[in-house]
Amino acid sequence: VIPEPLRLEGNRVLLLDQTLLPEREVWIEVRDADTMASAIARLQVRGAPAIGIAAALVLAVEAGRGGNVSERVARLEQAGRVLRASRPTAVNLAWAVDRVLDAARDAARAPGAAAGSSAPGSSAAASDEGAARLAARVRQEAEAIWREDLEASRAMAAHGAALFPNERRFLTHCNTGSLATGGGGTALGVLLELHRRRPDGIEVWATETRPLLQGARLTAWELQRSGVPARLIPDSAAAHVILRDRIQAVLVGADRIARNGDTANKIGTLGLALAAREAGIPLIVVAPSSTLDPALPDGSGIAIEERDPSEVTSIRGVRTAPEGMEARNPAFDVTPGRLVAAIVTERGVRRGPTYDLGSV
Ligand code: MRU
Repeated sequence: VIPEPLRLEGNRVLLLDQTLLPEREVWIEVRDADTMASAIARLQVRGAPAIGIAAALVLAVEAGRGGNVSERVARLEQAGRVLRASRPTAVNLAWAVDRVLDAARDAARAPGAAAGSSAPGSSAAASDEGAARLAARVRQEAEAIWREDLEASRAMAAHGAALFPNERRFLTHCNTGSLATGGGGTALGVLLELHRRRPDGIEVWATETRPLLQGARLTAWELQRSGVPARLIPDSAAAHVILRDRIQAVLVGADRIARNGDTANKIGTLGLALAAREAGIPLIVVAPSSTLDPALPDGSGIAIEERDPSEVTSIRGVRTAPEGMEARNPAFDVTPGRLVAAIVTERGVRRGPTYDLGSV
């Protein structure tokens, strides 16, 4: 029922424009890395795993665009720089770009790959063959990243659902479903799996997720289409609802997780974690291992994206604050690992309050 947010068709990537949902389902066509980088920055495709997959797919398109082996590698390196710079917080983006570029460099080093690229006298046919092999290798890697994300979603849904055999009332934040991934889901994937296992057994409270309303526009849409009993709440009602409506667990995704479990996720997650601690209920982070950044000892080194203040001073193009009002717009916050009861990846469940994810 929920479409995958992207498609790879020949020499183009199609994105379901998430800025227009739920009113309009418009697919946009992306044929180069510059266009993909601006689609990622504008959140036409968003969610940590989805932007990694989108970057990988457009690199596959770039790899097929002609030129000899060294020209293609140079183009991919440049495309990788542009894509990586489009959003700083979710590590899945840099991870996917690095993985595809490694595959490209590997293909370029293969015996005979560079024939004809510079060596005088080598045949154009050999050059074409090396370049075609490189393009095929890059495409294969991009498709593997996508496929593995779908597999990870399935595994996380099973591991996460097993944690809650009886619980009924859940709260979630932002959008962590099909649209945020390659068509699976992280935290929302667990909730959908619980609903599948116990059709009348769960209720979900979803936050609006100001300022860009990923909860109101996207999570509400996914929950409704999946038939899950759910209600939308303003972000500012979350602590009240957690305490008064006796929420039993808060499930969120992640954009980057440091080795000690410190978790960057959509702005507002930290407040949910504090409210969950006060209520004595678990906050569970659900994320594929591509979101782990074990090179970072803790969350202090995570770059937090600051978006345009106009997203705060207006709502969907309509100004709400007086002209000239300053605003700040941090898109993510970092929840200390000690406030995270468990981290669910495709590999299983790690329980807190202390973590050493270097060994995962
Ligand atoms: O700014 P967004 O919409 O890309 O932020 C998304 C989130 O914060 C999600 O919780 C996170 O990427 C995990 S999605 C599976």
